[in-house]
Amino acid sequence: APTSDNLNTKLGFGAIDKSRADAVIVPAGYTASVIYALGDPLVAGLAAYGNLGNDSNYENRAGDHHDGMDFFAMGSDNARSATASDRGLLVMNHEATTDTTRSSHFLHLAGGTTTLPRPIAEVDKEVAIHGISVVEVKKTGANWGYVQASGFNRRFTALTEVDITGPARGDALLVTPYAPTGLVTRGTLNNCGSGRTPWGTYLSGEENWFQYYTRPAGDNAARGDKSVLALNRYGRAEGAASRHGWETAGADSKYARFNIAKTGASTDGSDDFRNEMNGMGYIVEVDPFDATSRAKKRSALGRFAHESAAFSKLVVGEPLAVYMGDDSRNEYIYKYVSTAVWSAADANAADRLATGAKYLDDGKLYVAQFNVDGTGTWIELALGNTAIDAAAYDFANAADVRINCRLAADAVGATKMDRPEWCATHPTSGEVYFTLTNNSNRTLATVDAANPRVYSDVRNAATVQSGNVNGHILRIKDGAGNAAAISFTWDIYLFGAEAGASAGFVNLSSLTGDQDFSSPDGLWFSPNTGICWIQTDDGAYTDATNCMMLAGIPGTVGDGGTKTLNYGGTPAVSVTTHVGKAPTADTLRRFLVGPKDCEITGICETPDGKTLFVNIQHPGEGTALADVVADNTAAYTSHWPANAGYGAGGATTARPRSATIVITKNDGGRIGS
Ligand code: FEO
Ligand code: CA
Ligand code: CA
Ligand code: CA
Repeated sequence: APTSDNLNTKLGFGAIDKSRADAVIVPAGYTASVIYALGDPLVAGLAAYGNLGNDSNYENRAGDHHDGMDFFAMGSDNARSATASDRGLLVMNHEATTDTTRSSHFLHLAGGTTTLPRPIAEVDKEVAIHGISVVEVKKTGANWGYVQASGFNRRFTALTEVDITGPARGDALLVTPYAPTGLVTRGTLNNCGSGRTPWGTYLSGEENWFQYYTRPAGDNAARGDKSVLALNRYGRAEGAASRHGWETAGADSKYARFNIAKTGASTDGSDDFRNEMNGMGYIVEVDPFDATSRAKKRSALGRFAHESAAFSKLVVGEPLAVYMGDDSRNEYIYKYVSTAVWSAADANAADRLATGAKYLDDGKLYVAQFNVDGTGTWIELALGNTAIDAAAYDFANAADVRINCRLAADAVGATKMDRPEWCATHPTSGEVYFTLTNNSNRTLATVDAANPRVYSDVRNAATVQSGNVNGHILRIKDGAGNAAAISFTWDIYLFGAEAGASAGFVNLSSLTGDQDFSSPDGLWFSPNTGICWIQTDDGAYTDATNCMMLAGIPGTVGDGGTKTLNYGGTPAVSVTTHVGKAPTADTLRRFLVGPKDCEITGICETPDGKTLFVNIQHPGEGTALADVVADNTAAYTSHWPANAGYGAGGATTARPRSATIVITKNDGGRIGS
């Protein structure tokens, strides 16, 4: 177990500059190489990815838009290992696909068909590149690679049957033509952040799943008021159109269900897809070592736009807490607390998914309220809370509260945050960090202590943008009772900002050019070094640099005192917030910059801390649909990773691919040390 003695107290690499190159840049003394990209075959005998828009059999290939992931070390006996650092299973999310108008640009010959109906052959591919992959990776000599023929390799897609567990299992809201008793659902979608359970399974957060569904005009009249309230709150107002138009690809319900209406005149319910969307929006648990096991949607952890899931520090005999964010503007931070108390033997349980059921199917769900004085409260979301019982949305039962927990959180007055992305737990202090990536809707009318910024000046005040443009990283320390605490203290560890931005309102962490960043998103602590790895997904700063990853060595909640932002106006607006100690050159440095138009997301390492895996998501996503041709072209905005020597296509003309990279230190040391 990590102790504060063996964690790094300062960073040991040279900071790298911002970059607009179409390349992965890492510090001197480090090497980055590509090991697993979109379309790579996962079964023996399947052809290598051609990358010209005419590949097929994506159910047996790497998915697209690599996102959250974790590394599960494996010994030579093919069993879990606590120490093996040369072989293991990478489990990763494939969130989405690069598109501008319905079709997935790079999967099809000339960008695909953007009109309706969508061709079934195109939708077959687009559905299959979503979900999760399990892939064996190993080191041979000095080089890492993935193992194409491994029996552990598998894919979960938007068509894979998944079990619903916890309070929502079997509830009327989960009844669909596919699942007449509400026990299962079909597929997992928009898998974004990730988590790792103390019993060695993988957690995947379903994020923007609602975008995949069409809700036609006139649908309100075909539902009760409750259902309309819920759909409006979960991103599907009447008339909302799906992102890809999958529902138009033939009559088979596997695609027709993406129109969440009663689509025909049957009396047996076979064409009634009104509950389809209730099957998405969960934390999904996967056991990577059992290739025949089924994934579990853990409904007790609530249904929203999930990102990562971070566990509290383990204490034998105490409950486990799981911290989570809901990534939309003005959404909430949640905490789940298990009823079962931690038993150390469960770390090596024979049946990992049964252990998952023990801890993740029965517990309380809380939402966070942040107070101006630097304290906060976890408010339980359950029937019996008078605010929830009195809500306009008439909650039917405990299942309804978890399935529609956003409405319950509204009712109790939780704090609306600046888009909660990932969260992560510091390995020794147990404090929990949350990235709040940005919020263009934050205004003087809604500013609060935990979300205190309402504008950004860019390029040394040449341009003022409204909203919290660059995001911040907030952290909390649970109070008495630890995991089960209902009160906490908090502060803001870092504010994203350009180095030249105003010190009084924007660059509140005094970031220098070696440290400045925008829109923190992926977040993870190395248990080896204690380094806080910060990954960015930035829209505001991509004219100056591609997205990046930084290494931080933070202090503790409350170590920087308070800061007051006097915004003026009539009446004058003034916000006092609680901040962490400003970073120094030794405690925050830029470590990596990615290729063009990418996001950096997903990170894990081997047990020895000497190999780091990072995902590069959607390089070249700025490519215009009209520039996608039935061949290679220099017009793609990125040609990575072909230009780094990985896979088919010319270095200056290949289609870009999301991919996993592996980073090692040339002297064999721990990453970042
Ligand atoms: Fe999938 Fe919130 O990023
Ligand atoms: Ca994210
Ligand atoms: Ca993001
Ligand atoms: Ca993204």
